[in-house]
Amino acid sequence: MFNGAISSSRQSSLMSEYASLMGDAVLRNRARIAEHSARLEAEFASRIKSEFIANMSHELRTPLNSIIGFSKLIAEQKGGGLSVEEAAEYAGLIQDAAGHLLAVINDILDISKIQSGKFQLNNREMSVDEVLRPCVAGLKLTAQNAGVDLSCEIAADLPELSADGVKLRQVFTNLVTNAIKFTPAGGRVFVTAKAELGAGTIVDICDTGVGMTEEEIRVAITPFGQVDGGHNRWREGTGLGLPIAEALVKLHGGVLSIASEKSVGTTVTVRLPRYIPPKPPTLENQLASSPTANATLSSHAR
Ligand SMILES: Nc1ncnc2c1ncn2[C@@H]1O[C@H](COP(=O)(O)OP(=O)(O)OP(=O)(O)O)[C@@H](O)[C@H]1O
Ligand SMILES: [Mg+2]
Repeated sequence: MFNGAISSSRQSSLMSEYASLMGDAVLRNRARIAEHSARLEAEFASRIKSEFIANMSHELRTPLNSIIGFSKLIAEQKGGGLSVEEAAEYAGLIQDAAGHLLAVINDILDISKIQSGKFQLNNREMSVDEVLRPCVAGLKLTAQNAGVDLSCEIAADLPELSADGVKLRQVFTNLVTNAIKFTPAGGRVFVTAKAELGAGTIVDICDTGVGMTEEEIRVAITPFGQVDGGHNRWREGTGLGLPIAEALVKLHGGVLSIASEKSVGTTVTVRLPRYIPPKPPTLENQLASSPTANATLSSHAR
């Protein structure tokens, strides 16, 4: 009986020792997992950062070199060595390079404004049709030059939404440009817009291009992230278009999602909520929000 009591108190002390050892082990394991994922996050951020510096200096240097080079040619030939046609051609190339530089700088400003929460939309009532149709039409030539078949199907019954037309066009321009850019010649880009039952508008930008793995989608959606961004970049760009598009869709109350399969293609889906008109103010609300009405009411009450 006495021995039994000792052994049971010994048992309970062993149990509590065991429990505390287990607790320590769980805590150590949790700390190790947290440390590991923090290290992975830091490695991911650092990789994106170095790729960004390499890509960005390329994106800024290339147009600047054109501007400096061609303006120097014009300046050195002011004695009359250049024909009018040549001068016009060089001026056109300078204009083109300056436009590209401006677009890159605008993208950097956009993403920093978005990240600091200072981005403002100029919303009005409109339909997606209004921006999607001209956007696709404007990219027909780009697709044609890339040997990609670009087509578009927009439903007639799209609901109204509250949106910033300029920014929404920027979203679709980037997404359709990406679809063309990452689809080899002979491929197809198909854009559809339809009404989502009771909810709003759903736009699909579908391509038969190179596609992405889950990990590559994660890189693509990160600011400055480009798949194969380090060495094998096979197309120009800063890697800002997609994160800006995602952020702009979010600012419109919508959602951008990506489904992709390597070597098969990508579908980017943009869901935008329909416009809900504000309720007409009731007499009670009007009275409650008007200080004069309140004063009148209280003076009547007296
Ligand atoms: N439709 C697509 N198919 C395959 N890869 C894509 C597609 N869209 C985007 N990506 C990948 O995601 C990356 C990021 O896209 P994003 O639009 O942000 O940058 P970008 O097009 O390279 O440059 P820019 O800033 O000029 O838009 C691309 O570099 C590409 O690797
Ligand atoms: Mg892009």
